[in-house]
Amino acid sequence: MSSNAAQEGPVVTFGIIADVQYADCEDGTDFSKSRQRFYRNSLNLVKNAVNDWKSNSDPVAFILQLGDLIDGKNKLGGELASRKALKTALNPLNSLRIPVYHVIGNHELYNLNRSFYLTSPLNSSLSLSIQPPTNRLYYTFLPHPKLRVVALDSYEVSLLGYGDNQEDVNYLAACAMFPEKNPNTEANDTSGLQGLERRWAAFNGGISSAQMTWLSQVLEKAQEKEENVIIISHIGLQNEIKDYGICLLWNYDEVMSVVHRYRCVVGVFAGHEHIGYDCVDDHGVQHITFPGVIETRPGSNCYATARMWRDKLVVSGVGIVPSFTIPLRYPV
Ligand SMILES: *[C@@H]1O[C@H](CO)[C@@H](O)[C@H](O)[C@H]1NC(C)=O
Ligand SMILES: *[C@@H]1O[C@H](CO)[C@@H](O)[C@H](O)[C@H]1NC(C)=O
Ligand SMILES: *[C@@H]1O[C@H](CO)[C@@H](O)[C@H](O)[C@H]1NC(C)=O
Ligand SMILES: [Zn+2]
Repeated sequence: MSSNAAQEGPVVTFGIIADVQYADCEDGTDFSKSRQRFYRNSLNLVKNAVNDWKSNSDPVAFILQLGDLIDGKNKLGGELASRKALKTALNPLNSLRIPVYHVIGNHELYNLNRSFYLTSPLNSSLSLSIQPPTNRLYYTFLPHPKLRVVALDSYEVSLLGYGDNQEDVNYLAACAMFPEKNPNTEANDTSGLQGLERRWAAFNGGISSAQMTWLSQVLEKAQEKEENVIIISHIGLQNEIKDYGICLLWNYDEVMSVVHRYRCVVGVFAGHEHIGYDCVDDHGVQHITFPGVIETRPGSNCYATARMWRDKLVVSGVGIVPSFTIPLRYPV
């Protein structure tokens, strides 16, 4: 490394945004009626983020969109309203003219079936010519020789989005296991469940064994090549903060035991929960659940800009998003 490298810019810069939940409707409240949601203003906050990224002195190379870009409320206007909302929310992001990588959230699946997304602009594989192409919603890419992003499909095993394909093995698997885990008649109702068992709700989902095998193979190769890995997922994988069991991947434990077999994963970035929380787990992996745009008061902001330096990844939060410094396993 040259002696003046410290004065050079970061080796790669990218943007992060979560839970925009745009809908063209009046403000409302969340599921528990205790937190306010700003459905139209969320679009202004996306525009604020985009304007900032456009004027950044070190160019932003790509964006990670962590899911729930549109709110389930759009569904009230029918399929056309859902498609229109998706277009409206994507417009500012696409105006950056850089790759935008998406993961699918529960709200996407309230609006339209999973089969729609496979061929939509949210099929990142389709729009970004990721090689090899995939007919799945999980994928990986290498934005820098020392940084790999692995995007999980956290609703692959799910009760949501399979309305037009109820024979799908992953839907059948979800239907088979769910009632044993959550006996309540309403599948979003977690009453009677304790601690992390509260993750057994229809608004969460899980990962198939095929996706888990793929993840393991990707991480093994990444470790061989000494790539630092960031995993992105709509639903978080962290279990250390027991109160947040309600927003947790159904089979987070299986996925984390795969992750912990390798040294290469430095961070897991998620959304879904809206308030935001974080922890460094006992293997040194930095978990960040980003606050949601939808519950951010007008006048504030909700996004982050991440910069990878020689030996660390610095996530600089803006507005209600905190900042983090994540050491790299394999320095550049
Ligand atoms: C999914 O597909 C089914 C069957 O075509 C349809 O009835 C249903 O409305 C769709 N659901 C969503 C959320 O798009
Ligand atoms: C998603 O995009 C990839 C790449 O173009 C394509 O191969 C794949 O078939 C798409 N998925 C579906 C189900 O269309
Ligand atoms: C869970 O709640 C959402 C709305 O908040 C609803 O759209 C969805 O259908 C519910 N899921 C189930 C399986 O009850
Ligand atoms: Zn969500």
